[in-house]
Amino acid sequence: SNIIVTIPVVVHVLYNTAAQNISDAQVQSQLDVLNADFHRLNGDLSKVPAAFTSLIGDAGVQFVLAKRDPSGNATTGIVHKSTTATSFDSSDKMKYSSSGGDDAWPAASYLNLWSCNLGGGLLGYAQFPGGAPATDGVAILYSAFGSGGTAVAPYDLGRTATHEVGHWLNLRHIWGDARCGNDQVSDTPTQQTSNYGCPAFPHVTCSNGASGDMFMNYMDYTDDGCMQMFSSGQGDRMDALFATGGSRAALLT
Ligand code: ARG
Ligand code: ZN
Ligand code: CA
Repeated sequence: SNIIVTIPVVVHVLYNTAAQNISDAQVQSQLDVLNADFHRLNGDLSKVPAAFTSLIGDAGVQFVLAKRDPSGNATTGIVHKSTTATSFDSSDKMKYSSSGGDDAWPAASYLNLWSCNLGGGLLGYAQFPGGAPATDGVAILYSAFGSGGTAVAPYDLGRTATHEVGHWLNLRHIWGDARCGNDQVSDTPTQQTSNYGCPAFPHVTCSNGASGDMFMNYMDYTDDGCMQMFSSGQGDRMDALFATGGSRAALLT
């Protein structure tokens, strides 16, 4: 990517316990990871197998905590809010003050991130482009948010948000959510299904050749320390959203 897009971010920190009230430093650690991962500046790029290094993409997207709230007042871009809800799930309740959450800031102007407790082993989830503004954004488990503080291995390097913001920018899972499925990106190899943990290279499936699965891609399900790249094709797919008429172009104005 040649273009650099800068997106204002608001982080809604919802807490029912003191531990869930993650610090501003932990929030900033997540912004730092996003800024590295979406601009090919992550320090662990050297872990990408040589067979895939020519495919490493630069999404050219950067993130900054909002300096103005929707009313135009100065803000840190971080909202800390106590909730009586002990846990949330993927039903969007964290996105509404009326259900123990915190209302989204206008989706045309901000990326909304919610840090909260999530049940059922869920690390996070995202809304794809084109959905309802009130629920647009990404929810992340507080113990998988950023690094340091409450973050717990193997999901303590901020890659849950990298993965989910990838969805928010229209990326599909690299296995195409089907056996040998299609993720609509031509330079990511077809692979049988999701990978977990830290696979050994190569992991060949679906007759995908000597290099096998691109399991170190952020859109797989491997551990935070075992994912290091978007592909060029994924970068192009994200960038298309910011072109004239693209579904996230309003964020640039
Ligand atoms: N939505 C996925 C889940 O909840 C996110 C996986 C993120 N993977 C990671 N290594 N952080 O399982
Ligand atoms: Zn996903
Ligand atoms: Ca592909």
